Amino acid sequence: MHAIRVHEPGGPERLQLDELSTPAPGPGQALVRVDFAGVNYIDVYHRTGLYPLPRPIALGREGAGVVEAVGAGAALVPGTRVAWTSVAGSYATHVIAPAEQLVPVPDTLDSRAAAALMLQGLTAHYLTRSTFPLAAGHTCLVHAAAGGAGLLIVQLARRAGATVIGTVSTEAKAARARAAGCHHVIRYTEVDFADEARRLTDGRGVDVVYDAVGRTTFLRGLDALRPRGMMVLFGQASGPVEPFDLQLLNRKGSLFVTRPTLFDHVATRDELRARAGDVLGWAARGELAVTIDRVVPLAAAADAHRALEARATIGKVLLDATTTTAA
Ligand SMILES: NC(=O)c1ccc[n+]([C@@H]2O[C@H](COP(=O)([O-])OP(=O)(O)OC[C@H]3O[C@@H](n4cnc5c(N)ncnc54)[C@H](OP(=O)(O)O)[C@@H]3O)[C@@H](O)[C@H]2O)c1
Repeated sequence: MHAIRVHEPGGPERLQLDELSTPAPGPGQALVRVDFAGVNYIDVYHRTGLYPLPRPIALGREGAGVVEAVGAGAALVPGTRVAWTSVAGSYATHVIAPAEQLVPVPDTLDSRAAAALMLQGLTAHYLTRSTFPLAAGHTCLVHAAAGGAGLLIVQLARRAGATVIGTVSTEAKAARARAAGCHHVIRYTEVDFADEARRLTDGRGVDVVYDAVGRTTFLRGLDALRPRGMMVLFGQASGPVEPFDLQLLNRKGSLFVTRPTLFDHVATRDELRARAGDVLGWAARGELAVTIDRVVPLAAAADAHRALEARATIGKVLLDATTTTAA
């Protein structure tokens, strides 16, 4: 088998295609042949060492493929098409996963879409259904609304009946965010997004901000919220948020701040199944659009990271794990 690994944290050039012996699945595990692996911002944090991991770092957390072999007690049949999130080492031709972490892919959903939805789609699900359960009458602000997570959050917020304000950096991204369901789009690199969000809500402020841009947007986002509104910080594409004085939350209107992660929202098999069932089901029925920006060969994973970090992508980036040649 082949896997993209990082022996020393650093830039995209540290991604290395290593040849390894294919492991056998242990008890409760499955060996999966990976078709497509999802590229996510968390992979960048793992590569750079912002989120430290043991070395060599087996990159990738998400994908879709076919079960090749199962260990004792794993309730899965070889040949089953499956998808997963939170499985280390998914940038690979093969991955060993706990059978519990694998969800079946609906027959009418292709493996690209399944791989694209597991991490960002389930994130959009918990953010809009659990962290701040959106409903008609709510207004949310979604940063990086044309990103992989962003386009899905926008659609799920719309599905819940909320008014959606998205922020993006370019006009091309604005068009895609609008097409996904944003009622309003703000070019936050051109105008002050907090002023604009207040103007769009007649001075009231939004009920919730979904912010995974981090350093450059967090503090100003507090000014976009209504009194007792919620700041949901779920990532840091622009860099980590600096520590701040909690008194700020008092001064700006008894605000709530939370810093959630997907892992804690698919902590049980039932919760994983329920969220994945919703998200994959909606996509299979054509009720949730999956935007795939590009599919890059596994061996060219560094190019995928460069594009993501350069803000050059709209929607999802995938690695094609069915080939180990670069182009
Ligand atoms: N906590 C969780 O459970 C969880 C789960 C999934 C994802 N996330 C987080 O969600 C965020 C988005 O992840 P993603 O994989 O879907 O990526 P993405 O949104 O497709 O790409 C990142 C986007 O962030 C925006 N951005 C703003 N400033 C940036 C900067 N200085 N450098 C790079 N990008 C910048 C860009 O959009 P514009 O050009 O429009 O500004 C860029 O396209 C990440 O922070 C990730 O860690 C968190």
